[in-house]
Amino acid sequence: MLGLLADHRETARARLRPEVWDYYEAGSGEELTLGEAVAGWREYRLRPRVLRDVSTVDLTTELLGTTVRSPFAVAPVAFHALAHPDAECATVRGAGDAGCLTVVSTRASRTIEDIAAAATGPWWFQAYLMRDRGLTEALVRRAAAAGARAVVLTVDTPYVGRKHRVDGVRIAVPDDEYLVNLAQHLVPGAVGRESAEQDPSATPDVIGRLAAVGSLPVLVKGVLRGDEALRCVEAGAAGVVVSTHGGRQLDRAVASAQALPDVLDAVGGRVPVLVDGGIRTGTDALVALALGADAVLVGRPVLWALAAGGAQAVRDGLDALADDLAHVLAVAGAARPADLDPSTVTTG
Ligand code: FNR
Repeated sequence: MLGLLADHRETARARLRPEVWDYYEAGSGEELTLGEAVAGWREYRLRPRVLRDVSTVDLTTELLGTTVRSPFAVAPVAFHALAHPDAECATVRGAGDAGCLTVVSTRASRTIEDIAAAATGPWWFQAYLMRDRGLTEALVRRAAAAGARAVVLTVDTPYVGRKHRVDGVRIAVPDDEYLVNLAQHLVPGAVGRESAEQDPSATPDVIGRLAAVGSLPVLVKGVLRGDEALRCVEAGAAGVVVSTHGGRQLDRAVASAQALPDVLDAVGGRVPVLVDGGIRTGTDALVALALGADAVLVGRPVLWALAAGGAQAVRDGLDALADDLAHVLAVAGAARPADLDPSTVTTG
């Protein structure tokens, strides 16, 4: 892990309430997938090129028509107010200042409109298909109106994974914060938290439906198999995010680093493929980009930074990752991510 990220992590651990720290850190089941996320990237070895002009390195990245300075993006993570009073408004500012895209969670603790007003860079909106489908559609419409450039539909969560580490400890998110984006759309008499649960009956037709509702491209997040990625693309997905949900859904699911090549093979360049889980250094990102990912998302390191120092620390953490990536790219003989290809990495 990069030194600055480790520092943020230690500061966050000292500052956060113990139950919040555990909520952030936890994985599902026996936490095997959680543990393998970071290790997965470290299994690859690099085959550098030499005598290339790497006097300048350019990390500019294009994602569905949006150009960003960095291929690191902020993963959608719930309830940033647990980490910092400025919550997602600080995150989106820090990320934008670092030239990074932010994916705003459905479970954000600030309104979509407030986050949009604070944004200094592009952002996408993460949707869950909720039991009350009208809620999802209302949020997607609002996100589109507020300036979201895409929707990320998280599909690995028909039920929330059981995190034994936090069993019996309910994270104290008050209703007005839990439902900050939802309350105005609830039908009279509905129990907000129940209506907002994920709908376990969702099928691929929701992709086209949500794309039509928001007139935005819809990416699917939480795909670990090539055939499933293809099924989503054929149903209209504009992109795929390879993810184990930070090891919080199906324990013993294959690590993102090992699932990525199969998904890239199946998708065959038809749509962008992003990946997250355990990205903690520039070299982790280099491996992902060399395999063929278009961008990488980071989850917990952003929360640690937010807790440690708000927007400025979020920016510093993302800047440090980009700086590390630029350095290792140059040493590997690549002046830009496009100079990498799968022959840059080997597992042998
Ligand atoms: C998440 N993640 C997540 N994903 C999502 O689609 N919607 C959400 O609301 C959340 N909430 C959430 C909360 C917390 C505390 C964590 C740690 C994660 C998953 C997240 O988007 C991402 O897939 C992982 O966090 C990436 O792994 P790393 O970078 O945390 O290792």
